[in-house]
Amino acid sequence: MAVVTFLSAKGSPGVTTTALLAAALWPRPAVLVEADPAGGDLAARVPGPDGAPLDADRGLLPLLTTARRGLRAAQVLDQAQVVAGGSRVVVGVGGPEQSAAAGPVWSALGGALRELGQGPSHDSAGPFDVLVDAGRVGADPVHLDLLRASDVVVALVRSEVAAVLHARERLRVLGGALRRPDGSSPRTGVVVVGDLRRAARRADDCAGVLVGPAVEDLGRLPLDPAGAAVFAGAGTARPERTALVRAGRTVVATLAAAAEATATTAGRVPAGAGAA
Ligand SMILES: Nc1ncnc2c1ncn2[C@@H]1O[C@H](COP(=O)(O)OP(=O)(O)O)[C@@H](O)[C@H]1O
Ligand SMILES: [Mg+2]
Repeated sequence: MAVVTFLSAKGSPGVTTTALLAAALWPRPAVLVEADPAGGDLAARVPGPDGAPLDADRGLLPLLTTARRGLRAAQVLDQAQVVAGGSRVVVGVGGPEQSAAAGPVWSALGGALRELGQGPSHDSAGPFDVLVDAGRVGADPVHLDLLRASDVVVALVRSEVAAVLHARERLRVLGGALRRPDGSSPRTGVVVVGDLRRAARRADDCAGVLVGPAVEDLGRLPLDPAGAAVFAGAGTARPERTALVRAGRTVVATLAAAAEATATTAGRVPAGAGAA
């Protein structure tokens, strides 16, 4: 199974919202890891299954001491909590200061998440697909090792001219930075978020600017405040009827298929195969 990483080239296009949407709709067992160096919002945004706040003492930060000696998948899984709606999440660091202190976690996390995707071991459940909220990625990201360890990298981009031009430049630079020592790279693509009712054509044009030999088109998500509110801690009646969740099913199916294909290519066991 695979590591699928969501990121933004600039601004706040909806990375966390989309990562939560993907976790909610993912067709296989998944763990969402909040790995935004600017600080996570999950703890503030999503309650536990009983409506109570998540446990603030569980998440990436408690892994710091362990990470200095190398991090195992089971140790990351120990920090996961189930949230309302049933997704399993590992809450991120509190802010940039904690992120700076968490250096060893950033170095060790990619390897541990790959292990989490690689199947049952004596001490951990799984295998899981791992969904990563990597936040905004600028020059010199602290979590470059984690991005490089991903099987699929998904850039969220709003269908606005400035956003698209920044994303194009960022993806070009990132393409070089993500290359691994063996010459391979994560499969990389874009999801354009925009007004699909009145300006679907513009969203397509934006995707056209971004897509190329190294960047694939992974779909569109609508601007839908009611749907986004579902993933911001607001209760919405019939979330499955929102435009975001309906369009999300198509995008998530595309991402899950891409994840499965990369895991298979890499010689790993695809979901359901051989697991008697
Ligand atoms: N598809 C969407 N339609 C409408 N609003 C959205 C959408 N995705 C995100 N938002 C809103 O945009 C803001 C930023 O979203 P968030 O997911 O936190 O972005 P990021 O993680 O990229 O900073 C939030 O108020 C969120 O509710
Ligand atoms: Mg975010």
